[in-house]
Amino acid sequence: MDGAALLKAEKKLTPHLAKVLVYDLLFGKGLKCGGRWKVLVLKHRARLQAELARLKVRRKVSCNEDLLAPTEGVIQALQVPRYVRVNTLKTCKDDVVDYFKRQGYSYLGRATRMEELSSLSGKQFLLDPHLPELLVFPPQTDFHENRLYVAGHIILQDKASCLPAFLLSPPSGSHVIDACAAPGNKTSHMAAILKNKGQIFAFDLDPNRLATMSTMLVRAGASCCELANQDFLTVDPSDPKYSNVTYILLDPSCSGSGMVNRLPAEESAPSSERLRALARFQRKALSHALRFPALQRLAYSTCSVQQEENEDVVWDVLQEHGPAFRLVNVLPSWPHRGLATFPGAECCLRACPAATLTNGFFVAVLERQQECTSQGSSSSLPAEAEVDGGAERSQDGEGRGPRSARKKRRKKSRCVK
Ligand SMILES: C[S@@+](CC[C@H](N)C(=O)[O-])C[C@H]1O[C@@H](n2cnc3c(N)ncnc32)[C@H](O)[C@@H]1O
Repeated sequence: MDGAALLKAEKKLTPHLAKVLVYDLLFGKGLKCGGRWKVLVLKHRARLQAELARLKVRRKVSCNEDLLAPTEGVIQALQVPRYVRVNTLKTCKDDVVDYFKRQGYSYLGRATRMEELSSLSGKQFLLDPHLPELLVFPPQTDFHENRLYVAGHIILQDKASCLPAFLLSPPSGSHVIDACAAPGNKTSHMAAILKNKGQIFAFDLDPNRLATMSTMLVRAGASCCELANQDFLTVDPSDPKYSNVTYILLDPSCSGSGMVNRLPAEESAPSSERLRALARFQRKALSHALRFPALQRLAYSTCSVQQEENEDVVWDVLQEHGPAFRLVNVLPSWPHRGLATFPGAECCLRACPAATLTNGFFVAVLERQQECTSQGSSSSLPAEAEVDGGAERSQDGEGRGPRSARKKRRKKSRCVK
C-alpha cells in the first residue's frame, strides 16, 4: 500500500479499511463489496498488483505465503517433535511400533538423550527417554488421518502434557479427581494408567468441552470416568462419594502462554490484570483440592510459563496449608526445573521448546506428609519414573520394585515447610 501510495492518493480511506479492501483484492476472493470503496480501490489495482510482484522479486519468493515472516512461535513449533502416546487401553507399545515399521518408518529404539529427539528426520522414530509409552517422530509429522489415531489406539499429545498423569501415577483401583478435565487428554491418560480399574471423577465448567471429552473418552476406551458439568470449587470435599479420593489432577484454566503455535509473544502476552484473575482462581482451586480428606498426592499443572500462575500459586497454597503437604522432587533427571523463587521450587518441573523440546509447561507434585496423613501409611503411592535408575514402567504399566522406589522417593521428597 505504501509502494502504491494508496493512502496518500485517497485521503478518505482509513488504514484499517484499506487493509481489508487490499487484502480482498490481492489475496482474497476479489472485491465483493459494492459502492464507492470498490470503485476507489479498483482505480489502484494495477499499481497494487505491480507492487506485490516487486515485493516478491525483492524477497526472492514465488508465492504469496512465502512473504510471511515466520513468528517466534511458528519457529518454535517447527522444532517441537510430534509426540504420540500409545493408548494402552486399546493396544501396546510393541504393536504400535510394529505397525509403524510396516508403514515404512524406521524405529531407532529408546532414546537416552534429548539430542536424539531433535535430530530425528524423515520416517525415523524413537521411544521417549522419560515416558514409557510415548513415541517421538520428526516435527510436523501429521497423523490426524492415521488409522490408529482414528481408532483411538494412539493419542496425539505433547510430551509436556503427558507429565501430570504420568507423575501422579495413581495405582489401579484408585479413586481420582480430575478437577478441570475437558477436553480430557489427561483423563484418558489416567484411565490408561488405572487400566480402567478404579474411578475418575472428572469435572468441567464448559458443557461443550465436556461433550467433546465424552466422545474422546469413548474413542479411547476409557470406561472408568464419571463426567460432571460442575464448578470444581463447589464440589464438597466432605461428600462421602469422594471419601476415597487419594489422587487429584488439577490442570486449571491458565493464560496458555506456553503454547508455541499461538500468536506472536507480544500479541499473546497476558495482561497483568488477567494474570492476577487467573492466579486467584488457580490458588482457590489448588487450596480446595488439598481439602479432600483422603488425598495423598496431587499434580498441579499449567501450559503457562508465567511465574504468577506456577511457582507463586504453589508456594502461596503450601504456606496456607501449613506442614500438611510437601513438594515431591519429581523426575530428577529432567533438565528444566521450577524457578528458584522459594526454597524447594526446583522440585517443580518446567518445560519449554528450547530445553525440553515441548510446549511451555509447569508441573508440581504435592504429597501429604506422612505424619499429617489421616489415612495412615502412604504405601499406595506409585513408583517414580526416571530416565536413569530404571524405574521405567513395564508394558503392563506396573513399576519395577515399587517398594524400593518408594523408599528412594521418600529420601528424594523435599519438604519445603
Ligand atoms: C487447561 S483446560 C484443561 C485441559 C485438560 N486437563 C486436558 O488435559 O485435556 C482447563 C479447563 O478448566 C475448565 N474450568 C475452568 N474453571 C473451572 C471450574 N471452576 N471448575 C471446573 N472446570 C473449570 C475449563 O472449562 C477448561 O476446560
